[in-house]
Amino acid sequence: MQIPDTESGLPLVFLHAFPLNRRMWAAQQEALAPRFSLALDLPGFGDRSLVEPKLEAYAGDVADQLDTAGITRAAFVGLSMGGYVLLRLLALDPKRVAALVLADTRVTPDTPVVAGRRDAQIARVRAEGLGWLPEVMLSGLLGSETRSKNPALVQQVDTWIREADPLGIEHALLAMRDRPDSTSLLSRIRVPTLVLAGEQDILTPPGEALTTARAMQAHFKMLSGAGHLSNLEAPAAFNAALAVFLKEAVDGYS
Ligand code: MLT
Repeated sequence: MQIPDTESGLPLVFLHAFPLNRRMWAAQQEALAPRFSLALDLPGFGDRSLVEPKLEAYAGDVADQLDTAGITRAAFVGLSMGGYVLLRLLALDPKRVAALVLADTRVTPDTPVVAGRRDAQIARVRAEGLGWLPEVMLSGLLGSETRSKNPALVQQVDTWIREADPLGIEHALLAMRDRPDSTSLLSRIRVPTLVLAGEQDILTPPGEALTTARAMQAHFKMLSGAGHLSNLEAPAAFNAALAVFLKEAVDGYS
Protein backbone atom coordinates (compact mmCIF):
# COMPACT_ATOMS: atom_id res chain seq x y z
CA MET A 1 0.00 0.00 0.00
CA GLN A 2 1.23 3.51 -0.82
CA ILE A 3 1.56 5.91 2.11
CA PRO A 4 0.09 9.40 1.60
CA ASP A 5 2.80 12.04 1.28
CA THR A 6 1.40 14.99 3.22
CA GLU A 7 4.40 17.17 2.25
CA SER A 8 2.97 17.55 -1.26
CA GLY A 9 -0.45 18.74 -0.06
CA LEU A 10 -3.68 17.20 1.09
CA PRO A 11 -4.33 13.76 -0.43
CA LEU A 12 -6.73 13.76 -3.33
CA VAL A 13 -9.41 11.07 -3.74
CA PHE A 14 -11.25 10.49 -7.03
CA LEU A 15 -14.70 8.84 -7.33
CA HIS A 16 -15.73 7.66 -10.77
CA ALA A 17 -18.85 7.98 -12.93
CA PHE A 18 -21.38 5.29 -13.85
CA PRO A 19 -20.72 2.77 -15.37
CA LEU A 20 -16.94 3.24 -15.46
CA ASN A 21 -14.17 2.57 -12.96
CA ARG A 22 -11.17 4.20 -11.31
CA ARG A 23 -9.12 4.06 -14.52
CA MET A 24 -11.02 7.08 -15.83
CA TRP A 25 -8.86 9.27 -13.56
CA ALA A 26 -5.42 8.27 -14.88
CA ALA A 27 -4.73 11.62 -16.60
CA GLN A 28 -5.71 13.60 -13.50
CA GLN A 29 -3.52 11.48 -11.22
CA GLU A 30 -0.57 11.93 -13.53
CA ALA A 31 -1.10 15.68 -13.91
CA LEU A 32 -1.52 16.31 -10.19
CA ALA A 33 1.56 14.30 -9.14
CA PRO A 34 3.53 14.48 -6.89
CA ARG A 35 0.44 15.15 -4.78
CA PHE A 36 -0.70 11.82 -3.36
CA SER A 37 -3.92 10.70 -5.01
CA LEU A 38 -6.11 7.66 -4.89
CA ALA A 39 -8.72 6.75 -7.49
CA LEU A 40 -11.19 4.33 -5.92
CA ASP A 41 -13.44 1.77 -7.52
CA LEU A 42 -16.98 2.06 -6.21
CA PRO A 43 -18.73 -1.18 -5.12
CA GLY A 44 -19.38 -3.57 -7.98
CA PHE A 45 -16.93 -1.80 -10.34
CA GLY A 46 -13.29 -2.60 -11.14
CA ASP A 47 -11.94 -4.74 -8.31
CA ARG A 48 -14.54 -3.83 -5.73
CA SER A 49 -17.12 -6.24 -4.31
CA LEU A 50 -20.81 -5.47 -4.22
CA VAL A 51 -22.43 -3.89 -1.18
CA GLU A 52 -26.07 -3.15 -0.41
CA PRO A 53 -27.48 -1.08 -3.32
CA LYS A 54 -27.73 2.17 -1.35
CA LEU A 55 -25.51 5.22 -1.78
CA GLU A 56 -24.91 5.31 1.99
CA ALA A 57 -23.35 1.84 1.70
CA TYR A 58 -21.21 3.08 -1.22
CA ALA A 59 -20.04 6.02 0.94
CA GLY A 60 -19.30 3.55 3.76
CA ASP A 61 -17.24 1.44 1.36
CA VAL A 62 -15.27 4.56 0.34
CA ALA A 63 -14.59 5.30 4.02
CA ASP A 64 -13.41 1.68 4.50
CA GLN A 65 -11.02 1.98 1.56
CA LEU A 66 -9.66 5.25 2.96
CA ASP A 67 -9.17 3.68 6.39
CA THR A 68 -7.19 0.91 4.75
CA ALA A 69 -5.07 3.52 2.97
CA GLY A 70 -4.56 5.50 6.20
CA ILE A 71 -6.37 8.60 4.86
CA THR A 72 -8.37 10.37 7.55
CA ARG A 73 -8.88 13.62 5.62
CA ALA A 74 -8.67 14.44 1.95
CA ALA A 75 -9.84 16.61 -0.91
CA PHE A 76 -12.39 14.66 -2.97
CA VAL A 77 -13.34 14.81 -6.63
CA GLY A 78 -16.58 13.08 -7.64
CA LEU A 79 -17.91 13.03 -11.18
CA SER A 80 -21.61 12.32 -11.66
CA MET A 81 -22.30 9.09 -9.68
CA GLY A 82 -19.00 9.79 -7.90
CA GLY A 83 -20.52 13.14 -6.85
CA TYR A 84 -23.67 11.43 -5.54
CA VAL A 85 -21.47 9.18 -3.37
CA LEU A 86 -19.35 12.13 -2.27
CA LEU A 87 -22.44 14.01 -1.08
CA ARG A 88 -23.46 10.95 0.98
CA LEU A 89 -19.94 10.75 2.44
CA LEU A 90 -20.19 14.41 3.36
CA ALA A 91 -23.48 13.72 5.17
CA LEU A 92 -22.17 10.62 6.99
CA ASP A 93 -18.55 11.49 7.72
CA PRO A 94 -18.04 15.26 7.21
CA LYS A 95 -14.68 15.41 9.04
CA ARG A 96 -13.19 13.25 6.32
CA VAL A 97 -13.89 15.88 3.65
CA ALA A 98 -11.47 18.83 3.63
CA ALA A 99 -12.51 20.07 0.19
CA LEU A 100 -14.81 18.86 -2.53
CA VAL A 101 -14.99 19.05 -6.28
CA LEU A 102 -18.35 18.16 -7.80
CA ALA A 103 -18.05 17.55 -11.53
CA ASP A 104 -20.98 16.99 -13.88
CA THR A 105 -23.25 15.89 -11.08
CA ARG A 106 -26.43 17.01 -9.36
CA VAL A 107 -27.68 17.31 -5.79
CA THR A 108 -31.35 16.59 -6.51
CA PRO A 109 -32.89 13.08 -6.61
CA ASP A 110 -34.13 11.26 -9.70
CA THR A 111 -37.31 12.54 -11.30
CA PRO A 112 -40.01 9.85 -11.76
CA VAL A 113 -39.10 9.70 -15.46
CA VAL A 114 -35.42 9.03 -14.76
CA ALA A 115 -36.28 6.51 -12.01
CA GLY A 116 -38.56 4.70 -14.48
CA ARG A 117 -35.77 4.65 -17.07
CA ARG A 118 -33.44 3.05 -14.52
CA ASP A 119 -36.04 0.35 -13.77
CA ALA A 120 -36.29 -0.40 -17.49
CA GLN A 121 -32.48 -0.57 -17.75
CA ILE A 122 -32.28 -2.97 -14.80
CA ALA A 123 -34.85 -5.23 -16.44
CA ARG A 124 -32.93 -5.14 -19.72
CA VAL A 125 -29.56 -5.90 -18.07
CA ARG A 126 -31.15 -8.89 -16.32
CA ALA A 127 -32.65 -10.13 -19.57
CA GLU A 128 -29.86 -9.37 -22.05
CA GLY A 129 -26.62 -8.52 -20.24
CA LEU A 130 -24.67 -5.38 -21.15
CA GLY A 131 -24.11 -5.58 -24.93
CA TRP A 132 -26.74 -2.91 -25.69
CA LEU A 133 -25.61 -0.44 -23.02
CA PRO A 134 -22.74 1.43 -24.76
CA GLU A 135 -24.92 2.45 -27.69
CA VAL A 136 -27.63 3.76 -25.37
CA MET A 137 -25.22 5.59 -23.09
CA LEU A 138 -22.45 7.03 -25.27
CA SER A 139 -24.46 9.92 -26.69
CA GLY A 140 -25.24 11.10 -23.14
CA LEU A 141 -21.81 10.47 -21.65
CA LEU A 142 -19.75 12.17 -24.37
CA GLY A 143 -20.33 15.55 -25.98
CA SER A 144 -21.01 15.87 -29.70
CA GLU A 145 -17.55 17.34 -30.32
CA THR A 146 -15.85 14.38 -28.63
CA ARG A 147 -17.98 11.88 -30.50
CA SER A 148 -17.04 13.39 -33.85
CA LYS A 149 -13.37 14.22 -33.15
CA ASN A 150 -12.07 11.71 -30.61
CA PRO A 151 -12.88 8.14 -31.74
CA ALA A 152 -10.18 6.72 -29.45
CA LEU A 153 -11.98 8.08 -26.39
CA VAL A 154 -15.35 6.86 -27.67
CA GLN A 155 -13.78 3.41 -28.07
CA GLN A 156 -12.21 3.52 -24.60
CA VAL A 157 -15.47 4.42 -22.87
CA ASP A 158 -17.31 1.77 -24.91
CA THR A 159 -14.78 -0.84 -23.73
CA TRP A 160 -15.04 0.21 -20.07
CA ILE A 161 -18.82 -0.10 -20.21
CA ARG A 162 -18.61 -3.59 -21.76
CA GLU A 163 -16.08 -4.68 -19.12
CA ALA A 164 -18.38 -3.75 -16.23
CA ASP A 165 -20.08 -6.39 -14.10
CA PRO A 166 -23.84 -6.61 -14.85
CA LEU A 167 -24.59 -6.99 -11.15
CA GLY A 168 -22.48 -3.92 -10.37
CA ILE A 169 -24.50 -2.01 -12.98
CA GLU A 170 -27.77 -3.24 -11.52
CA HIS A 171 -26.83 -2.27 -7.96
CA ALA A 172 -25.61 1.16 -9.02
CA LEU A 173 -28.83 1.83 -10.94
CA LEU A 174 -30.84 0.91 -7.84
CA ALA A 175 -28.63 3.03 -5.58
CA MET A 176 -28.86 6.06 -7.88
CA ARG A 177 -32.62 5.62 -8.33
CA ASP A 178 -33.17 5.67 -4.56
CA ARG A 179 -30.72 8.43 -3.67
CA PRO A 180 -31.99 11.16 -1.37
CA ASP A 181 -32.13 14.87 -2.07
CA SER A 182 -28.84 16.45 -0.95
CA THR A 183 -29.96 20.06 -1.48
CA SER A 184 -30.23 20.81 2.25
CA LEU A 185 -26.56 19.88 2.67
CA LEU A 186 -25.36 22.70 0.46
CA SER A 187 -25.79 25.65 2.81
CA ARG A 188 -24.00 23.68 5.55
CA ILE A 189 -20.83 23.06 3.58
CA ARG A 190 -17.95 24.91 5.23
CA VAL A 191 -15.05 23.59 3.18
CA PRO A 192 -13.70 24.88 -0.15
CA THR A 193 -15.81 23.65 -3.03
CA LEU A 194 -15.39 23.68 -6.78
CA VAL A 195 -18.15 22.85 -9.25
CA LEU A 196 -17.10 21.79 -12.76
CA ALA A 197 -19.42 21.40 -15.71
CA GLY A 198 -18.90 20.26 -19.28
CA GLU A 199 -20.37 22.87 -21.60
CA GLN A 200 -22.09 20.17 -23.72
CA ASP A 201 -23.21 17.98 -20.81
CA ILE A 202 -26.80 16.97 -21.54
CA LEU A 203 -27.14 14.62 -18.54
CA THR A 204 -26.29 17.20 -15.88
CA PRO A 205 -26.58 20.50 -17.74
CA PRO A 206 -24.19 23.35 -16.82
CA GLY A 207 -27.07 25.68 -15.86
CA GLU A 208 -28.03 23.31 -13.07
CA ALA A 209 -24.39 23.04 -11.97
CA LEU A 210 -24.17 26.82 -11.76
CA THR A 211 -27.28 26.92 -9.53
CA THR A 212 -25.64 24.32 -7.28
CA ALA A 213 -22.41 26.32 -7.19
CA ARG A 214 -24.25 29.49 -6.20
CA ALA A 215 -26.12 27.69 -3.41
CA MET A 216 -22.77 26.53 -2.00
CA GLN A 217 -20.86 29.72 -2.74
CA ALA A 218 -18.51 27.43 -4.63
CA HIS A 219 -15.94 28.18 -7.28
CA PHE A 220 -17.37 27.35 -10.70
CA LYS A 221 -15.73 26.51 -13.99
CA MET A 222 -17.36 25.56 -17.27
CA LEU A 223 -15.24 23.33 -19.50
CA SER A 224 -15.75 24.25 -23.12
CA GLY A 225 -16.12 21.52 -25.72
CA ALA A 226 -16.69 18.85 -23.05
CA GLY A 227 -19.77 16.74 -22.41
CA HIS A 228 -20.63 14.74 -19.29
CA LEU A 229 -17.27 12.93 -18.89
CA SER A 230 -15.49 16.27 -18.74
CA ASN A 231 -12.26 14.97 -17.17
CA LEU A 232 -11.78 12.62 -20.13
CA GLU A 233 -13.01 15.03 -22.81
CA ALA A 234 -11.17 18.17 -21.69
CA PRO A 235 -8.36 16.82 -19.51
CA ALA A 236 -6.08 19.87 -19.79
CA ALA A 237 -8.79 22.34 -18.74
CA PHE A 238 -10.10 19.98 -16.05
CA ASN A 239 -6.61 19.43 -14.60
CA ALA A 240 -5.79 23.13 -14.69
CA ALA A 241 -9.03 24.04 -12.85
CA LEU A 242 -8.29 21.39 -10.25
CA ALA A 243 -4.68 22.49 -9.78
CA VAL A 244 -5.65 26.16 -9.36
CA PHE A 245 -8.42 25.27 -6.89
CA LEU A 246 -6.08 23.10 -4.81
CA LYS A 247 -3.33 25.73 -4.80
CA GLU A 248 -5.47 28.81 -4.20
CA ALA A 249 -8.41 27.56 -2.14
CA VAL A 250 -7.30 24.37 -0.40
CA ASP A 251 -3.60 24.09 0.40
CA GLY A 252 -2.74 26.28 3.35
CA TYR A 253 -6.42 26.67 4.31
CA SER A 254 -7.19 23.10 5.31
C1 MLT B 1 -22.88 9.02 -14.28
O1 MLT B 1 -22.19 9.50 -15.18
O2 MLT B 1 -22.37 8.63 -13.23
C2 MLT B 1 -24.36 8.89 -14.53
O3 MLT B 1 -24.74 9.67 -15.62
C3 MLT B 1 -25.15 9.28 -13.32
C4 MLT B 1 -26.62 9.05 -13.49
O4 MLT B 1 -27.03 8.18 -14.26
O5 MLT B 1 -27.41 9.75 -12.81
